[in-house]
Amino acid sequence: MDDKKFYVSYNSVHKLVKKLSGELLASGYDPDVIVAIGSGGFIPARIMKTFINRPIYAVGISYYGIDKKHKDHPTKIQWIDEVQSQLEGKKVLLIDEVDDTRATLAYCVGELLKFSPEEIAVLVLHNKNKEKDVEFPVEIKRYFAGMELADLWIKYPWDADDIEVHTDNEKQMLDALAKEGKELYT
Ligand code: G4P
Ligand code: MG
Repeated sequence: MDDKKFYVSYNSVHKLVKKLSGELLASGYDPDVIVAIGSGGFIPARIMKTFINRPIYAVGISYYGIDKKHKDHPTKIQWIDEVQSQLEGKKVLLIDEVDDTRATLAYCVGELLKFSPEEIAVLVLHNKNKEKDVEFPVEIKRYFAGMELADLWIKYPWDADDIEVHTDNEKQMLDALAKEGKELYT
């Protein structure tokens, strides 16, 4: 296990999404559609559908092209085409797994705003507390993060080679934190 990494199991992803769905409801925001940013936002978005039952549109935006080379800016690898009209006048819930530099998220928000949605709310599992490279446009009034974290590398379950080892790594990490009196998932 690597101490500088923050392990997240599938169960913890599910718990974070459920908690976020409660916060969404409590805020009074009732989205018409979910837009998932692939690939990290796909699984959280699908779990969110369990709690709010809205259609999911998928967009693929990455700093890394299919050639795995780092680009100067985020680029679209897949985009909403015939369904883009579906966003006009709609309340959108944009889901991704992590708010890191914010570059991908802010770029995606800017592109989606071109389809004239009524509002876009941003929802992520984890927000890293760090200086962001980019800010959100002023149109973003609602932002939900399941957990605030330091600038650590997060290990998501979908990247795991051995999911049992991964899940056990999270358990060890959570047990150590519990000894310090920190309960992350209540
Ligand atoms: P942001 O707008 O969400 O902050 O994204 P940013 O462009 O800063 O992130 C670049 C890529 O790095 C993204 O992947 C993001 O998911 C990934 N990333 C950033 N921090 C972490 C982390 O702590 N753990 C993991 N596992 N990934 C992280 P991407 O290019 O969108 O690809 P994909 O993995 O979502 O397909
Ligand atoms: Mg991503």
